[in-house]
Amino acid sequence: MFDELIKQIDKCLEGFLKPVYPEKIYEAMGYSVMAGGKRMRPLLMLLAFKAVGGDESDERIMSTACALEMIHTYSLIHDDLPAMDNDDLRRGKPTCHKQFDEATAILAGDGLLTYAFQLMLCDPTLEFKPKYTRAAAEIAYLSGMGGMLVGQAVDVESEGKQIDAKTLEYIHKNKTGGLIKAALKAGGIIGGADEETLKLLEEIGEDMGYAFQIKDDILDITSTEEVLGKPILSDEKNQKVTYVSLYGLEKAQKDYEKLSLAALEKTKRLGGRAKPLYDYIESLVDRVK
Ligand code: IPE
Ligand code: IPE
Ligand code: MG
Ligand code: MG
Ligand code: MG
Repeated sequence: MFDELIKQIDKCLEGFLKPVYPEKIYEAMGYSVMAGGKRMRPLLMLLAFKAVGGDESDERIMSTACALEMIHTYSLIHDDLPAMDNDDLRRGKPTCHKQFDEATAILAGDGLLTYAFQLMLCDPTLEFKPKYTRAAAEIAYLSGMGGMLVGQAVDVESEGKQIDAKTLEYIHKNKTGGLIKAALKAGGIIGGADEETLKLLEEIGEDMGYAFQIKDDILDITSTEEVLGKPILSDEKNQKVTYVSLYGLEKAQKDYEKLSLAALEKTKRLGGRAKPLYDYIESLVDRVK
């Protein structure tokens, strides 16, 4: 149902990542971005934009959607590095540092992060569009000091420690919730949503982000490498406290369903135009990868 939108996102990403001199860095960035992935974050942004009645002729949102996928991919490249989770497989392929080398993987991540902000903020029409500037500012905050980066920081410093429920919630809501919230909020901002609707989108992102990482923790022990396209039992290897290790598999699954349902209930409150967003979030509930 969302295949056509995914194709558009992929085409756009490919265009942005065509190798020019110095080719190797473009190749490493393109290798990890084009390896696949669900494209959940750009999809959520585009569907949130539609949900709030965004102007269909405003094609520039595609650059912001692709930028968010680049930021997400940078987070994966760095997450897999030996200094972090030390994983060798991502999106069904050798991780960036395995395919290239560590220095190239660090630079590919840096490249994707900075290129993302270039794409969001450098307006070729030179028209000042405050909506896009505000969306980029939200994405900066939720990727960095108010989201993904600080979540990853606490995740890494908690390795091998018995952290409490509150700390785990902080990690999950930030390291994963950050970019999911950013996707929904940026889509809403660019679509011209009012402040109340933006708040609702943020709340949906909060529930979804927490749920998404709980499911990721579940899949880390219940799935297979072939299906996931990344190693299983990575959390145990790195002595991470996860939702499953803290509460057990049964409660993790129950809480996951509860949070998913809460996100869906809130999405309903966005009204009829949000049906595709609702359907997409619903389709994620039984995801196997
Ligand atoms: C993996 O994200 C990292 C987490 C935040 C759990 P995804 O499960 O969305 O990975 P891709 O983009 O589909 O590869
Ligand atoms: C990391 O969580 C989330 C990111 C911000 C990259 P994980 O370390 O559990 O993600 P996976 O399982 O490697 O995809
Ligand atoms: Mg990690
Ligand atoms: Mg990892
Ligand atoms: Mg994981």
